[in-house]
Amino acid sequence: MPTPVEILKHEHRIIERVLRALGGLSERLEKGESVSPEALSSFLDFIRTFADRCHHGKEETHLFPTLEQRGIPREGGPIGVMLHEHELGRGLVAELERAADAYGEGDRAAGPQFAEIARQYIELLTQHIQKEDNILFQMAEQVLDEETKAQLERAFQQAEAELGAGTHEHFERVATTLEETWAT
Ligand SMILES: [Fe+2]
Ligand SMILES: [Fe+2]
Repeated sequence: MPTPVEILKHEHRIIERVLRALGGLSERLEKGESVSPEALSSFLDFIRTFADRCHHGKEETHLFPTLEQRGIPREGGPIGVMLHEHELGRGLVAELERAADAYGEGDRAAGPQFAEIARQYIELLTQHIQKEDNILFQMAEQVLDEETKAQLERAFQQAEAELGAGTHEHFERVATTLEETWAT
């Protein structure tokens, strides 16, 4: 049974695959190539549901509060920084949605705009994931005892169930398809 930190790290690897694919899509848009609006939508669907609701949801609702209880401060520490970056990410996703809508309505200039915001999102999330993997999750491994880990595992399973049976697996397959189609 993987530990809570191992589960979250595995999700990071899935998200990174989609970020590589998003870089490939952005490259095409920057060159002025035409791509289907549905491609933009499938990235946004993954980011909203898997990266944000599923993954950031587990961190914000379960891992971070548990770490605070175990003595890692929120304010002035890594948890506060991670929460702030999740919010910055949501702001960029809202901008990506607006650009994707405009692109879908035939506004060609919205393609490079989407790519520009996507590049910021890729940069933000790539370094965010590195910080979690190398700093916060290392701290978590030191402060979480076996009982707390078991509680978190159950909470993660519950979060998956609330998202809908098979949703996680569906988005793992989506990540593979996006990577095969778009990563360069
Ligand atoms: Fe995070
Ligand atoms: Fe994360």
